Amino acid sequence: MSEYNGPDDAISADLKNIEATAKVNNYRHNITGVLFHFDRKFLQVIEGAEDNLRALMEKISLDPRHHNIDYLVDTPVEFRGFEKWNMDTLNLNNPAEFNVDNMRSLTKNFEENLLPRSDALIYFYRKLLGA
Ligand SMILES: Cc1cc2nc3c(=O)[nH]c(=O)nc-3n(C[C@H](O)[C@H](O)[C@H](O)COP(=O)(O)O)c2cc1C
Repeated sequence: MSEYNGPDDAISADLKNIEATAKVNNYRHNITGVLFHFDRKFLQVIEGAEDNLRALMEKISLDPRHHNIDYLVDTPVEFRGFEKWNMDTLNLNNPAEFNVDNMRSLTKNFEENLLPRSDALIYFYRKLLGA
């Protein structure tokens, strides 16, 4: 998780830019994941080979668009949660993006990839909602 540095009216454009860069780079390095934005906070999941992830984390940690980076989970996993997403973003402050259809599609992703670990989904939603 991290906190956005720029002005409120630049968040949408910054998110789009980050997504565009991330989709290209992450595809190249076989990194998958998702990036949420909510109330000036980012929550991101990145998955892939450890070397690639460490290199990306180093780059992201130097990005001037955010600060207060906090690593919640850093662990080997058996299955990817976002196997087909090279870094989709979801802006939860945008009603057009935070809707039942998108949350259902996100949940479906977890169900398909992480069925034996459904507790991970609950944990993830809790973190997302700060509960
Ligand atoms: C919250 C946040 C998440 C980001 N996630 C990614 C990512 O998943 N992949 C990526 O390549 N860049 C990501 N970036 C952008 C990187 O910090 C950096 O600007 C970018 O990787 C530079 O790409 P380049 O070396 O191709 O210019 C993220 C930036 C922020 C602020």
